[in-house]
Amino acid sequence: MLLSTKSILSTKELTKQDIQQILDTAESFKEISTRPIKKVPTLRGKTIINLFFEPSTRTRTSFEIAGKRLSADVINISGSTSSTIKGESLIDTARNLEAMNPDILVVRHHCSGAPALLSQFVNSPVINAGDGSHEHPSQALLDLLTIRSHRGDLEGLKVAIVGDINHSRVARSNIKAMQTMGMKVRVVGPPPLIPIGLEHLGVEVSHNLSEAIKDVDVVMVLRIQLERQNQGFLSSLREYSNYFCLTSETLAKARNDILIIHPGPVNRGIEIALDVMEGPRSLILNQVTNGVAIRMALFYLLLGENNANPN
Ligand code: CP
Repeated sequence: MLLSTKSILSTKELTKQDIQQILDTAESFKEISTRPIKKVPTLRGKTIINLFFEPSTRTRTSFEIAGKRLSADVINISGSTSSTIKGESLIDTARNLEAMNPDILVVRHHCSGAPALLSQFVNSPVINAGDGSHEHPSQALLDLLTIRSHRGDLEGLKVAIVGDINHSRVARSNIKAMQTMGMKVRVVGPPPLIPIGLEHLGVEVSHNLSEAIKDVDVVMVLRIQLERQNQGFLSSLREYSNYFCLTSETLAKARNDILIIHPGPVNRGIEIALDVMEGPRSLILNQVTNGVAIRMALFYLLLGENNANPN
């Protein structure tokens, strides 16, 4: 079955069937990464371009590994080494890359909407690898895969997302995808970091961490964006940590089988305590492992489903 969308620009465009198919495909791909020879010929002859205008450790590397595990040719271009430095526009950059006949473009950009804009000027599918504070759909999908792997079914699960919801592309992508999958979402943080009117979208809002995580299956802790410290959203990091850092004391009031996830990178001791981050309920590195499988699934479903054998 094909996905209902040619590109992956946001989770808003993905149906429940799309998400189920992506998660099922990723689940079947996990095993390839455990083999001594971690490579299948599925996308041999396909060309993937990773175009990253913002720093990344997890996303860029896992898109590259995913493409290589499926035998695609993967080319990485960073903003700082592209001709955008010489003044070439983003659209001209994409059209010139398109002239070399790639099969897919993966784009991370600091401007919200940049991957969607590019998708209008190229024929190949575009995957949004994070655009400004808009969306990060492949992160939401790997988060869902991680939760589903530990809970079996997503329907009816309760999640608390803690932190800077206002500026988080991870939160935005997750809220929509989780609601599509029948999950209940609560956001937690100080009022300046929570978008006004979120309740009207069916999201519960809380400003009290220990109350908010009492009855949830999953707590997702977001990175405090230190680069926004001078924008006046927080009076101080210490005050934020006093109220919203996930510690073993706050967790004592939660379910003892609660799952803890964080998209990374982590500010140790600011949004999550060290012992919690490295404790038995933390799935943070499991998320990173699942990121490879999700990105393999996206490549396969966008490029190779009709002419490939996943084994
Ligand atoms: N989660 C995430 O997007 O991490 P990177 O910025 O390292 O890719």
